[in-house]
Amino acid sequence: MTKQPIKLFDLWQETIDSLTRDGLLLCSAGADGKPNVMTIGWLAGGAIWSKPILTVLVRPSRFTYSRLSQVNEFTVNVLPASFAEAIQHCGTTSGRDGDKFAHTGLKPVPAQKVRVPIVEQGVVHYECRVVHTNEVIPANLAADIKASAYSDGDYHRVYFGEVLAAYAAPDAREKLRRALL
Ligand SMILES: Cc1cc2nc3c(=O)[nH]c(=O)nc-3n(C[C@H](O)[C@H](O)[C@H](O)COP(=O)(O)O)c2cc1C
Repeated sequence: MTKQPIKLFDLWQETIDSLTRDGLLLCSAGADGKPNVMTIGWLAGGAIWSKPILTVLVRPSRFTYSRLSQVNEFTVNVLPASFAEAIQHCGTTSGRDGDKFAHTGLKPVPAQKVRVPIVEQGVVHYECRVVHTNEVIPANLAADIKASAYSDGDYHRVYFGEVLAAYAAPDAREKLRRALL
């Protein structure tokens, strides 16, 4: 079934439920066009600069970080719970060490508005171009978060992505809800 355009927050509850359950998949690509996929557990959405914005946080140690410095676009993909194992793999191995698409069977397919792919098995997709980045500043961070999230000093870069396209499978709500029952 063809995926249909949605407004940014049409499937937001389902997106956040998936984010906090297994994680979502963030696709990036190198200048050579080779895609990579990693799991994210942190995401914020809203309206900034009169634009729909998704904010993701990526640590400098990630292969994805180097990809984002080469191609300043990313996609966020929401998959049904049946893909939990693949999502776990994408969150525990690096694209530096092998092709996670090949290993998991997840398929990169062309996006509509950006050069990086979406994950075909996803049921909700957000395509973004990076319009701003900043760093998590240790001196400005609450002490408890600093202790719990940054004991290794690998402070995230924060990427603000303008959402250029958002779309979903017609049965996305049902597929994502069913997983919660
Ligand atoms: C559930 C889950 C959520 C994660 N969320 C993030 C995140 O938001 N930001 C981040 O930098 N790493 C996050 N990670 C870790 C990366 O996904 C992991 O280090 C991955 O291997 C990086 O892949 P890459 O080196 O190919 O970029 C998460 C891992 C898991 C399992």
